[in-house]
Amino acid sequence: ESRMTLKITVIGTGYLGATHAAAMAELGFEVLGLDVVPEKVEMLAAGRVPMYEPGLEELLARHVAGIEGSSGRLRFTTSWEEVGAFGDVHFVCVNTPQKHGEYACDMSHVDAAFASLAAVVRDGALVVGKSTVPVGSADRLAELLPEGVELAWNPEFLREGFAVQDTLRPDRIVVGVRSERAEKTLREVYAVPVGEGSPFVVTDFPTAELVKTAANSFLATKISFINAMAEVCEAAGGDVAKLAEAIGHDDRIGAKFLRAGIGFGGGCLPKDIRAFMARAGELGADQALTFLREIDSINMRRRGQMVEMAREALGGSSFLGRRVAVLGATFKPDSDDVRDSPALNVAGQIHLQGGQVTVYDPKGMDNARKVFPTLGYADSAVEAVRGADVVLHLTEWREFRELDPAELASVASSRVILDGRNALDGELWRAAGWIYRAMGRPRS
Ligand code: UGA
Repeated sequence: ESRMTLKITVIGTGYLGATHAAAMAELGFEVLGLDVVPEKVEMLAAGRVPMYEPGLEELLARHVAGIEGSSGRLRFTTSWEEVGAFGDVHFVCVNTPQKHGEYACDMSHVDAAFASLAAVVRDGALVVGKSTVPVGSADRLAELLPEGVELAWNPEFLREGFAVQDTLRPDRIVVGVRSERAEKTLREVYAVPVGEGSPFVVTDFPTAELVKTAANSFLATKISFINAMAEVCEAAGGDVAKLAEAIGHDDRIGAKFLRAGIGFGGGCLPKDIRAFMARAGELGADQALTFLREIDSINMRRRGQMVEMAREALGGSSFLGRRVAVLGATFKPDSDDVRDSPALNVAGQIHLQGGQVTVYDPKGMDNARKVFPTLGYADSAVEAVRGADVVLHLTEWREFRELDPAELASVASSRVILDGRNALDGELWRAAGWIYRAMGRPRS
């Protein structure tokens, strides 16, 4: 039996779903993607992506039916009937955002997707959950499917900005299954990446769900750990960048995810650690995760500290009437995502305290304007910096590392740059006459 015979559907076409659908087509499968938003389906069917993700449009163009030269293996629809009739394997990729005013995540999209799918799914099909959910959800969701339709849980670990490579060559593939048949089907789906060396970890439902939240909690902990060390370095006169480099040489610690700065944001890490705490509370295991509250508060404190660094750079009193240039709006580079972005949060706090904030971001301007229409926006880094009393570097885009400090020095009103990401070459900026300060590092 060839792997090409499995027909795959992908339900929900956000970051995760759009990338997964395109990757499955790249692996050789016939794929049908469903979204309940007709505009998204129209865009994707034309080979366009509703967000900025490097390489994704190219991948879609290789497979979306109707695009010249494509394989034609990838189509999109809004019809559940079509999805039910088509699919042997259905991947559920809808999002689970944080609930308003609560730590728990909102399962309404997952629940709705399962209800719709249950009504149309063919006997013998496999449903595979990929959304990030509270542990215990898979057991509950399995009950919603008709007899003869099995569930598996297969969390996703892709990073925005690297979504395509993370999906085609994942670090690991984790599958929670209840039968050998489900395992066999998923081995067939992932035969190519497994053949290329991606480890395939088979487990039960709760472990599969927990692997995802545990991984994100660990990453959040690593970032808050180094940010806590940054606070200590600030107090003691140490250099957190050197400290991170030195501890990172120990492979048990590892050098990655030790960049101190204004902390983590985005649609995943912050909400995942909160949802995890909420779920542990429901399970009576809240004590096990009280440390995550501290991880969250160290993280949130960084944003305030950046605001204070800016205030101090301006002489220590008020932001009123002062011009603040903000380089970066997205939660990280190579993305246009501004969800829970530390950069935009810092910009917003300074604006609310009376500062005249001008933001520039290579890809995040449209989304930033939607979230924060009252901030000033410039079309380039140079325009943002023109006349500024202080410059804040808050998202480490390559474009900002390649700026010419001498050119910016000629347009700024005062030459002070604060690096909230520890990513610029301080010596280069100082040589061009700037006062360069970075979080957790000595002044000169
Ligand atoms: C994160 C995880 O890295 C993925 O493995 C996971 O699949 C994904 O969440 C998810 O749950 O879907 P992502 O949100 O795309 O991916 O972003 P990260 O690369 O993890 O960065 C998160 C935040 O941490 C960013 O704001 C980044 O600026 C910050 N960060 C990262 C630091 O402040 N310091 C570091 O050293 C690394």
